[in-house]
Amino acid sequence: MDDSSVFIRDVMMRDGLQNLKEFIPTEVKIELFRMLVASGLRCIEFTSFVSPKAVPQFADASQVARAVMPITPTEVEVSALIPNLKGAQLALDSGVRRLAFVMSVSESHNINNVRRSTAESIDELKRILALKEKHPDMIVDVGMATVFGCPFEGKISPRVVLQFVRRFYGLGIRGMTVADTVGFGNPKEIREVCRLCVSEFPDVAFSIHLHNTRGLGSANAFAAYESGIRIIDGAVGGLGGCPFAPGARGNTATEDLVYMFEGMGIATGINMDALLEVARYVQSAKPEIHFSSNILEAGVPKYLGAITKDGTEQRWS
Ligand code: COA
Ligand code: ZN
Repeated sequence: MDDSSVFIRDVMMRDGLQNLKEFIPTEVKIELFRMLVASGLRCIEFTSFVSPKAVPQFADASQVARAVMPITPTEVEVSALIPNLKGAQLALDSGVRRLAFVMSVSESHNINNVRRSTAESIDELKRILALKEKHPDMIVDVGMATVFGCPFEGKISPRVVLQFVRRFYGLGIRGMTVADTVGFGNPKEIREVCRLCVSEFPDVAFSIHLHNTRGLGSANAFAAYESGIRIIDGAVGGLGGCPFAPGARGNTATEDLVYMFEGMGIATGINMDALLEVARYVQSAKPEIHFSSNILEAGVPKYLGAITKDGTEQRWS
């Protein structure tokens, strides 16, 4: 992996599962994690430490964390979503070290999602950061929801987004995600926001989180990549959606992103067959789940070889 490589962070176990009404048994979640690791993914968001009343799917977050943390290879970066101090404490107590604090850049969505104003969320973030004294190896990233539009407030100005980024930077945050929570954005908007972020804060590891609600997920991912973003969220099977953001459909499928990037000779380090195995496993465990994945549906064209960076041909299977 070099500077041109892309890290696809799979968020199926978090964003994908949060939107499913049926509870996925804890042992299935743990097996999913094993399979995601085996596919070569190096970034995985695997659960959410949220109120079980808000999202019953994650009532077993601590159990899942206690099972997966000890089996996580050192080269794999795992994170869990947290909305508040309680989530941070539970995650740390379960052995999680990288916390993805979520808040929205729109007031209305933040209130709908985490029942706080954005100012209250920032105060909560400060309380979470104070845990560093007791947990010096804790890393807190911030996920900014609704950057490319809010289901309640509509378009969000890039100026507003940048104000949040500066606030987080001032608090010492060096990992930030810009999220198209509902799937409103287009490549031009993605490029504008990503370029502003990357040029003002070259020392921040920015990532992008995309929902494919209107079919622009892969185009948006590529726009982000061209703007310097190297961590791109996807979800196996194209599962996903925020239960507190009406209209959100699934994330861009990880396999669709792998197909696009590898096809262009941009390394992802991910094995397509192993990735599709994960989707098939979910399908077999819960046949009623609706997937939204072009590669799962159409397959990889067998006659196509992808040209790798050194000019050799890589066959998909
Ligand atoms: N993990 C587990 N339980 C939690 C929790 C957490 N992070 N935060 C709060 N709780 C529990 C409290 O202990 C309390 O339990 P009790 O009723 O048994 O005493 C209950 O949840 C309510 O706590 P409160 O602090 O009043 O929370 P709230 O009702 O104001 O809800 C959130 C705030 C943030 C906890 C809740 O809205 C939430 O979990 N949202 C998640 C949204 C989400 O996952 N969105 C999708 C991803 S972007
Ligand atoms: Zn999402």
